[in-house]
Amino acid sequence: MDKLIITGGTQLSGELRISGAKNAALPILAATLLCEEPVTVGNIPHLHDITTTMQLLGQMGVQLTIDEKMNIEVHSSTITKFEAPYELVKTMRASILVLGPLLARFGEANVSLPGGCAIGSRPVDIHIDALIKMGADIQVEAGYIHAKVDRLKGCKLILDKVTVTGTENLLMAATLAEGTTIIENAAKEPEVSDLAHFLNAMGAKITGIDTAILTIEGVEKLDNKNIHYNILPDRIETGTYLIAAAITRGSIKLKDVRPGTLDAVLDKLKEAGAEITIGENWIKLDMHGKKPKAVNIRTAPYPAFPTDMQAQFTALNIVAEGVGTITETVFENRFMHVQEMQRMGANIQLESNTAICTGSEKITAAPVMATDLRASASLVIAGLAAEGDTLVDRIYHIDRGYDHIEEKLSQLGATIRRIPR
Ligand code: UD1
Repeated sequence: MDKLIITGGTQLSGELRISGAKNAALPILAATLLCEEPVTVGNIPHLHDITTTMQLLGQMGVQLTIDEKMNIEVHSSTITKFEAPYELVKTMRASILVLGPLLARFGEANVSLPGGCAIGSRPVDIHIDALIKMGADIQVEAGYIHAKVDRLKGCKLILDKVTVTGTENLLMAATLAEGTTIIENAAKEPEVSDLAHFLNAMGAKITGIDTAILTIEGVEKLDNKNIHYNILPDRIETGTYLIAAAITRGSIKLKDVRPGTLDAVLDKLKEAGAEITIGENWIKLDMHGKKPKAVNIRTAPYPAFPTDMQAQFTALNIVAEGVGTITETVFENRFMHVQEMQRMGANIQLESNTAICTGSEKITAAPVMATDLRASASLVIAGLAAEGDTLVDRIYHIDRGYDHIEEKLSQLGATIRRIPR
């Protein structure tokens, strides 16, 4: 397995281009299953999860062509199998996103249950219950969801919890349902809105985008021609590099970003002492060489502070001035990075779903192990501030969600290299 070695102590500076959002690219590629016509998706990030999604669609018989600029052209009418096998679903939970589109367009889907994962149990009961309410016959047997329907029927769905992929699955399913579907308590994450805009570009009729109530008027087919859709920029990648710069007391400019999707994160960076300047599609952060101040964070669905950014802020807090608390309310069991940071000398106390971080004068490099995607990124960030060489193992998690992380950090002046297995 590849590893990363980071030599701490360099202030990051310079400019960087941010990639397309992983969490928008995955549902949008799944949504291409709904279209009768070829579709091209651009600004696709170079990630392992994208390769897995292409494998998933490819093994169903969908034709995919990728060019050197990471534009993917998808023809889904060649599909022969309506299945997402365990081998692929176990490596990428987001494979569940093919359930809605397969069922809506082809009336059949066999999708492996995602099962547990490193950050809690993450069930899919809300996806299944809502599809049953829309008329699907669903049996869960031998670890698979077997779903069948003649045509889904529109209805009112009130989701028990705000779920991102749940909202996305139902949004996709409802585009081809008979009649109108209303999704209440829908997730408002920018990636959900990006998917909704893509569906509308293919011919869907969705209103209420960016709000908690989505209304979908079902249509017979999605068959708009010549669609080329560019994925929105990755707000989590953006936030991760901003924190990397803040922890090293540096100054960076990130380009091709959407600043409006990062309000909660930018507020916390300002509280930590960063000077933030924003333009239409860029963000500048400058610490003026100062040590960051510790901040208190509470995760919650968008537009509140994202759970996918809490581990990175934990890294910031452990070398900041003062005491900062990180409270996780979206997932259980999302503090696996804490133990690893403690091995680097961090002063963190865990009390139920809160990590109390007291900033230390210095943390020291240690071999650490990545356990999930964002936890891995937080360990790399901690390595940038540590004294010595931090070795981060099991970085396949990082490659699932960060496009060329070592090249991008090197571009900002970090001393980081990959050791291939
Ligand atoms: C998505 C993101 C992930 C992010 C998360 C929260 C993708 C591919 N992944 O994950 O990066 O961390 O949103 O912003 O977009 N829940 C249920 N039943 C369900 C569905 C969810 O109880 O049927 C619970 C989950 O256990 C969790 C909460 O709802 O506690 C939110 O999860 P959800 O928004 O569904 O996360 P994902 O869509 O899996």
